[in-house]
Parts: sequence; C-alpha cells; structure tokens
Amino acid sequence: MTTVPLFTAHNGFALPAIGLGTYRLDGDAGADAVAAGIGAGYRLVDTAFNYENEGSVGRGVAASGTPRGDLHLIHWPNPSQDEYVQAWAALVDAQSRGVVRQIGVSNFLPEHLERSERETGVRPVVNQIEVHPYFPQEEQLAYHREQGILTEAWSPIGRGEDLLEEAVVGEVAAAHGITAAQAVLAWHVARGTVAIPKASSLEHQAANLAAAEIVLDDAEVAAITALGRPDGRLFDGDPRTHEES
Ligand SMILES: NC(=O)c1ccc[n+]([C@@H]2O[C@H](COP(=O)([O-])OP(=O)(O)OC[C@H]3O[C@@H](n4cnc5c(N)ncnc54)[C@H](OP(=O)(O)O)[C@@H]3O)[C@@H](O)[C@H]2O)c1
Repeated sequence: MTTVPLFTAHNGFALPAIGLGTYRLDGDAGADAVAAGIGAGYRLVDTAFNYENEGSVGRGVAASGTPRGDLHLIHWPNPSQDEYVQAWAALVDAQSRGVVRQIGVSNFLPEHLERSERETGVRPVVNQIEVHPYFPQEEQLAYHREQGILTEAWSPIGRGEDLLEEAVVGEVAAAHGITAAQAVLAWHVARGTVAIPKASSLEHQAANLAAAEIVLDDAEVAAITALGRPDGRLFDGDPRTHEES
C-alpha cells in the first residue's frame, strides 16, 4: 500500500498529502466509490453541505469497514460570505464541546484568517482553497506556511481537463514514467499542499494516491509552477464572491 506523507499544522495535527474529493460522488455509485477509495488506502475524505452527498459518503465509510477513528472526514457547512466570523466562532464552540476534533476553513483570504483569529483567539488548522498549476497561489501558500496553516488544494488537477494536456506536464510525466495527473499531484506534494482529487473509478483513485510517493526535483516543480497566470482560476471562484455549489 502507498505510504502517504503527512503534513503538519501549527498545533501538531497532521493530514495525509492526498485525500479523496467527493464532488458529484453521490447515490449508490458514490457510496461504492468512497468505499473503494478507502479500501485503496485513502484516509482523508472531503465532502460539503452543498454536495448533498453526506449520506453516500457515510454509507461508503461504513461499507469500507475502516474504523471511523482512522479517517479524516472533512465536512464543510455553507455560511454566507458575510457570516464567516460567526461561522468560525460556532466551529470554535463545537470544538470546545468535543463535537468535532479539528476545525478549519475554506476560501479564506489572509484578511479573513487574521480577523477570525483576532476575534476568537483560535487559528484554523487548514484552509481549503483553489490551487493547481494554472493558479499556484504562491503568496497565499507562503502566508499559510508562516502561520502553520495547512493548505488543502481544491480542483488540484484542474478538473482533469486542459491542464493534463500541457506539454510541460507531459514532459515531467514521461521523465518519471507516470501519468499527467500523477505529475500534477506530485507537484502538490512537493509544495507541501494537501490535494483532494475527485475520482470515481478505482483506477484513477489508486493512481492518484500512488502519486504521493513520486518525488519531483526543484526544476520540475518550477517548470510546472510556471504554468501559473493571474487569471488562472478555473471558474469564478474568487473568495470575495464565490460560494461553493
Ligand atoms: N471548497 C471549495 O470551494 C471547492 C470547490 C471545488 C472543489 N472542491 C473539492 O475539491 C475536490 C476536487 O476538485 P474537483 O472535483 O473540482 O476537480 P479535480 O479533483 O481537479 O478533478 C476531478 C476530475 O478529474 C478526473 N480525474 C481524476 N483522476 C484522474 C486521473 N488520474 N486521470 C485523469 N482524470 C482524472 C475526474 O474524473 P473521474 O471521476 O472520471 O475519475 C474528474 O472529472 C472536489 O471533489 C471537492 O471535494 C472544493
């Protein structure tokens, strides 16, 4: 089984470098896909209120037979943009009552992180944001690193589209005898970012997890990062306006 590196936050909490995204994994097929992913070795599963698939994820977790305590199940509620501080305070309260083990945020800019911590005294362990080679987010990653906040990358392989056809990605993949998706995931691992690729087939799930063991050199990482551009977001996911759907 793949050995997946762990990345550690400011409070010692660690997450595996690669987890399973579940957007559009729903119904019985979704439950089967989640169970298969956990069977293949995933220990981090990401879901959200808006995906309306908590039932499928829950059934998949149960069917996997893996003890709940061995898994990191990340679930995102959906507060509106202007309620983020109250939402964070509610999570702080839930954690203090032992309802959840660790608490983090998604699509927070540094100013949101600073205000949330200032008003509650508690720093998130993770911030899930859009990161892929078209949008490498160097500055925000540096800020997270400084604060000990883990970065979790959403749409890490660019939704499996144009990014995987890029020549530089193909060159890195060929040099290692791996696929384009694996090259991009190895790029995330090299940058210390937790990636949560969504994959419905066991073939893609296993290949994506195996990328956790692939080591790219600095020049390969830099060559892939050079695909970045200021307007590299895949869709209008700007945190000032984006609400996940
Ligand atoms: N917080 C937020 O605002 C936010 C926003 C977007 C996403 N997310 C989270 O991030 C997760 C991942 O993002 P995403 O689903 O948008 O995009 P993604 O993970 O970058 O790409 C998923 C697509 O890539 C394909 N794929 C997976 N593995 C592949 C491989 N090895 N080779 C070729 N194609 C492959 C999948 O197809 P198959 O299923 O057919 O394998 C699917 O079409 C989501 O599931 C969700 O949990 C969060």
